[in-house]
Amino acid sequence: ERFWLRRHLLSLKTMSLIMLSVQTSTMVLLLRYSRAPTSTPHQHQPYLITTAVLLSELLKLALSLTFLHLESGRVVSVTGRRVYDEVVSRVWETLKLAIPAFLYVVQNNLLFIALSNLDAATYQVTYQLKILTTAIFSWVMLGKRLALIHWLSLCLLMLGVSLVQVEGSSNTSENSKIIPEVEVLKGGEPPDAVPVDIHNVAHPNTEVSRLLGILAVFVSCISSGFSGVYFERLVKRGNQTSLLIRNIQLGIFSIAFAVMAVSTDSKVIKEGGFFQGYSIITWLVVLIQAFGGLMVSVTMKYADNILKGFATSLSIVMSTLVSWLALGDAAPTPQFIVGASIVISSTVLYGLTPQKGAGDTILPSSH
Ligand code: C5P
Repeated sequence: ERFWLRRHLLSLKTMSLIMLSVQTSTMVLLLRYSRAPTSTPHQHQPYLITTAVLLSELLKLALSLTFLHLESGRVVSVTGRRVYDEVVSRVWETLKLAIPAFLYVVQNNLLFIALSNLDAATYQVTYQLKILTTAIFSWVMLGKRLALIHWLSLCLLMLGVSLVQVEGSSNTSENSKIIPEVEVLKGGEPPDAVPVDIHNVAHPNTEVSRLLGILAVFVSCISSGFSGVYFERLVKRGNQTSLLIRNIQLGIFSIAFAVMAVSTDSKVIKEGGFFQGYSIITWLVVLIQAFGGLMVSVTMKYADNILKGFATSLSIVMSTLVSWLALGDAAPTPQFIVGASIVISSTVLYGLTPQKGAGDTILPSSH
């Protein structure tokens, strides 16, 4: 029975990593496409980022509640009782999730901003820096000591990322594919009469646009590292609150913060409506983003944040190939290929080197 359980867990771990990898590449490409449609004519205003983030948070909570309901034998009173006992009456446990919820809502908005301003490959490779921030937060918050080889691979990682960046900034032609949406916002009105919202419009100046995108990625790396370690700690250590309950606790706060983010767009929403600029692609992005969030939580529970980094590395290769072959992005230059290879090798080197006294995970599991 133990063997069966081990195999079962292993497959859950592998499955979650593969699914996360596929989800990440699909998400990155689709989101970039939804913000920078090169083939779709711009007939209307681009959709509002904050509304898309709110919808995906709502969807995640709805899905978590549905799973809880199924787990509770589809008895409404049992589900309600569990939510009351584990979420409402344990205020302090629930409140712990307000911190990652706030950071994730900021980070999810930044994800849209980053992909409105950067090509898929640059975004993904730069975002690998989150492995460094994850390591630092594990060290600071959990007192994890890293072996020399870990630090070495982290230095390699930064080298690889900067190679990709140097290449990217010397060749901004990729970014020119991102159509300055400001020109097409509202037919009839002169462009300078259009209220330019930096969150929702790819900046017409490619240098500024690139800088904005990179900045969004850097802040996301810090948020991702901290929140990842924080959430992993909550689901692996301490009292054994189930993953579903943790996700519901997180979801409640995420929705509250996402509503606040939406309120910053209230003027535009009053004029053009909540769903302005929505297309089927936008809905797909919302759906895949919600699904991805749940996958991330499963990965944190059954694998860990470092293995999660592996899954993202793999998706870099996938999305670079697809964005080159299918979306017509510039072919990767030799420097990009060298940089990306260093990034991926360093990730593998890091992940394969066991942690001192903690198996191969960055966080010791309590079981
Ligand atoms: O890039 P990173 O792995 O940090 O992204 C984490 C993503 O997973 C965020 O979009 C966050 O909202 C989502 N997430 C979630 N539920 C969790 C943990 C993360 O939806 N329990």
